[in-house]
Amino acid sequence: MKKRIGIGTWSWGNKLFWNYKSSNDNDLRETFNEALKRGFDLIDTADSYGTGSLQGRSESLIGKFLLVTPSALKRRIQVATKLAPYPWRFGNKGFNKPFFKSLERLNNKLDIVQLHWSTAQYNPLQEFDLLNNLCDLKDQGFNFQIGLSNIGPIRLKKLIHHLSIRDQRLKSVQVQFSLLAPELQKQYQVKEICEENNIDFYAYSPLSFGILCIDPDKEENKENSFIRDALFNNYKKQTYELRNCLKRIANQRSVSQAQVAINWCCHQKAIPLVGMRKKSQVIDISNVFNWNLNKNEFNLLQDVSKTCLKKMPKNPFSSG
Ligand SMILES: NC(=O)c1ccc[n+]([C@@H]2O[C@H](COP(=O)([O-])OP(=O)(O)OC[C@H]3O[C@@H](n4cnc5c(N)ncnc54)[C@H](OP(=O)(O)O)[C@@H]3O)[C@@H](O)[C@H]2O)c1
Repeated sequence: MKKRIGIGTWSWGNKLFWNYKSSNDNDLRETFNEALKRGFDLIDTADSYGTGSLQGRSESLIGKFLLVTPSALKRRIQVATKLAPYPWRFGNKGFNKPFFKSLERLNNKLDIVQLHWSTAQYNPLQEFDLLNNLCDLKDQGFNFQIGLSNIGPIRLKKLIHHLSIRDQRLKSVQVQFSLLAPELQKQYQVKEICEENNIDFYAYSPLSFGILCIDPDKEENKENSFIRDALFNNYKKQTYELRNCLKRIANQRSVSQAQVAINWCCHQKAIPLVGMRKKSQVIDISNVFNWNLNKNEFNLLQDVSKTCLKKMPKNPFSSG
C-alpha cells in the first residue's frame, strides 16, 4: 500500500495557540505549493479554524492557493474539511449553511466533509441528523465523501450502520494518534474497525503539537504563543526519554526526530495529518516517503511510549 501523508492546517489562522500572523501567509503559500509538488495528496482543514474574526481563515487560504494551482495537481489533492456540530447546528438542515460557506471559501474544491466531533455526550441524536443532512446534500448531487472525527469505537459502529441505511459509506475517520496520544488502546479499536470497513484512518496531531520534535539536549528558542510555551514546559521533563529515543533513531538514520515520529504512524498504516507552515518542514517530512522504520525500531518506540505516563490532553468531545 502506498504511503500517504496529509497536510494539517489548524495553525493557518489560529493566533491563540499557534501565534498566526497574516504577514506569514506567503510562507503558507510556499508550504502548500511545495507539499503538492512533493506528493502530499490530502489537506485537512475545518470551518472553525481561525480564531475570532479569523474563523474560516484556513479554508480561505486553501481556496486562494487552489485558484492558481495547476489542474493536474488540483485533481490529485483531496481537500477535507470538518464542519463543527455546534449545539445551534441541529436537525437535518443544520449543516446546509456551513457546508455552502465552506464550499465558497474553498472555491468549490471540497472532497471530504467530516463531522468535527461526536455530539454523543451532549445531544446524542444531533449527529445522526447532521449525517442525514450530508447524505441529503450528496443525493442533491454535491460530490463529496463523508468522514468522522473524534469518535470512539462504539459510536463509530453505530454511525457506520446509520450511513449504510442511507446507502452511504464512510471515507475517513480521524482521531488523535501519536506516541503521546491519550487512550491509544481506544484509538487502536477505532483503527481496527476502519481496516475492517475499508475506511481511511487519519492520525491527527502526530507530532503532539511539535513536542516530539523538541531536541532533548537543546534549549528551544521558538517564538511560541504563551499557551504553547506553557504546554511545552509542562511536557518537556516527562517526555525526555521518549524524545531521546526518537533522537537516537533519527541520528542512526540521518533523519529528523519529526520523520521518525511520522514514520511510527505510517508503519501502522495510518495516514498522518502533519501540521506544517514552512516549506522547510514539508521538505523534511517528504523524506518519510523514502524510508521505513524497521521492526526493532518500531518495537523500541512502542516500549518507550508505554513507559511515558504523561499523555496529551484528551479531546473532551471524543465519544466512547
Ligand atoms: N479533528 C480534530 O479535532 C483535530 C485536532 C487537532 C489537529 N487536527 C488536524 O491535525 C493536524 C496536525 O495536528 P497539529 O496541528 O495539532 O500538530 P502536529 O502535527 O502534531 O504538530 C505540528 C507542529 O510540529 C512542528 N513541525 C512540523 N513539521 C516539523 C518538522 N519537520 N520539524 C520540526 N518541527 C515540525 C511545527 O511547529 P512549528 O511550526 O512551531 O515549528 C508544527 O506546527 C492539524 O493541523 C489539523 O489539521 C485535527
